[in-house]
Amino acid sequence: MVKYKFPDGFWWGSAASGPQTEGRVKGDGKADNIWDHWYKKEPEKFFNQVGPQNTSKVYQSYKEDVQLMKKSGHNTFRTSIQWSRLIPNSDGKVNSEAVKFYDDYFNELLENGIEPFVNLFHFDMPMRLQEMGGWLNRETVEAYVHYAETCFELFGDRVKKWFTHNEPIVPVEGGYLYQFHYPSEVNMKHAVQVGFNELLASAKVIQKYHETNLDGEIGIILNLTPSYPRDENSPADVKAAKIADAFFNRSFLDPSVKGTFPKELVEIVTELNMLPEMEEGDLTLIEENTVDLLGINYYQPRRVKAKESAKNNEMAPMPDDYFDDYEKPGRKMNPYRGWEIYEKGIYDILANIRKNYGNIQCFISENGMGVEGEERFTDENGKVQDDYRIDFIKDHLRYVHQAIQEGTNCLGYHMWTCMDNWSWLNAYKNRYGFIAIDLDNNAARTIKKSGEWFKTVSDNNGFED
Ligand code: BG6
Repeated sequence: MVKYKFPDGFWWGSAASGPQTEGRVKGDGKADNIWDHWYKKEPEKFFNQVGPQNTSKVYQSYKEDVQLMKKSGHNTFRTSIQWSRLIPNSDGKVNSEAVKFYDDYFNELLENGIEPFVNLFHFDMPMRLQEMGGWLNRETVEAYVHYAETCFELFGDRVKKWFTHNEPIVPVEGGYLYQFHYPSEVNMKHAVQVGFNELLASAKVIQKYHETNLDGEIGIILNLTPSYPRDENSPADVKAAKIADAFFNRSFLDPSVKGTFPKELVEIVTELNMLPEMEEGDLTLIEENTVDLLGINYYQPRRVKAKESAKNNEMAPMPDDYFDDYEKPGRKMNPYRGWEIYEKGIYDILANIRKNYGNIQCFISENGMGVEGEERFTDENGKVQDDYRIDFIKDHLRYVHQAIQEGTNCLGYHMWTCMDNWSWLNAYKNRYGFIAIDLDNNAARTIKKSGEWFKTVSDNNGFED
């Protein structure tokens, strides 16, 4: 008997991405994506100058990794296909080395009882397309449709859960507003266009998938940051929180699940005279091609108050022109990542999906805690004693359990991440995995205490306290 019992068939596992784990080897045929390019250009921007070419060597060690996934209780696992690996050149031809790798990887997972969930885009725009504007250019949308159809043809007989994007708001924020992704611009007009084209691409690919006779499902993965006003009784704070919610959550959630755009956001973008360029029929296409399944990444809440600080006119227009961030006194923090830990946020998201989004089937597709210098918790047997991670997961799972009891259609819980991986500009600064990677020892793997604990949770389909 366990106190927190989850529904039969619950998905226990973790998430990762191609660009953060695979690495590159000679002769693999992969072309550069924006991260390879940015690292070559400005390596000093990356923590300890560690770039995307090495990462966790999953390209070579996926067989060992699948065994470790089994030992840490995975029945499902998400990764992404790297577009720049599968279709490296503008001729659209498929790289046979990539096909062999993904075929073997997915087969290995399936043979070991782990269902692969496959995402098509995880921040990794091929450089050849970025040179022509990336998501700013409508031709990228068409190239993406071709790429996705290729993936369905090659792997769709075995992969039954597809995702069009991971956190599509992040390339918008990082690349075109806050400068933590390439091309590192500050340009609201571009941000709006990039967001729109990502959504259009998603809807087109959903339509294509549904036209095939493949018997799987297709969804999207969104990072949802519930927006809480400083004072719920202050109309100005509540309005500010609503606007932040429209910018960062509903911008993708509403069109992906309901096929519509939030009116608050449309009003702002119209006032700014920055509506995206679109063609006749685009809005209908988005309206008619919504997701089958929603992946929810949850790390932190967003706390907001009415705008009090002066507007930064040099950067304007920016989302922050409409609200200020608020630091709640006494908040619990993850000091390494600088993110607030607020476990109830996961419940609030799930309750919102149940009440306001037709209770669409969903799952927690990422949740996690990055810790810097984690090797200091290694014991004499070489095992990382990450009790704080076990507590973190339990504290969130209790709320997921409560939401399910109340009727939320939540089908699983995936941790970020399986094995420590390369985190963009933060490289290997913060470790998130169930499995430790020793970078000084040819990326040797060791399951952490949390990975062993997670196996018991998966075996029991729940936990006791
Ligand atoms: C999510 C992404 O935002 O969070 C991952 O899907 C990312 O790609 C993870 O690595 C953790 O964030 P970070 O910035 O610490 O790597």
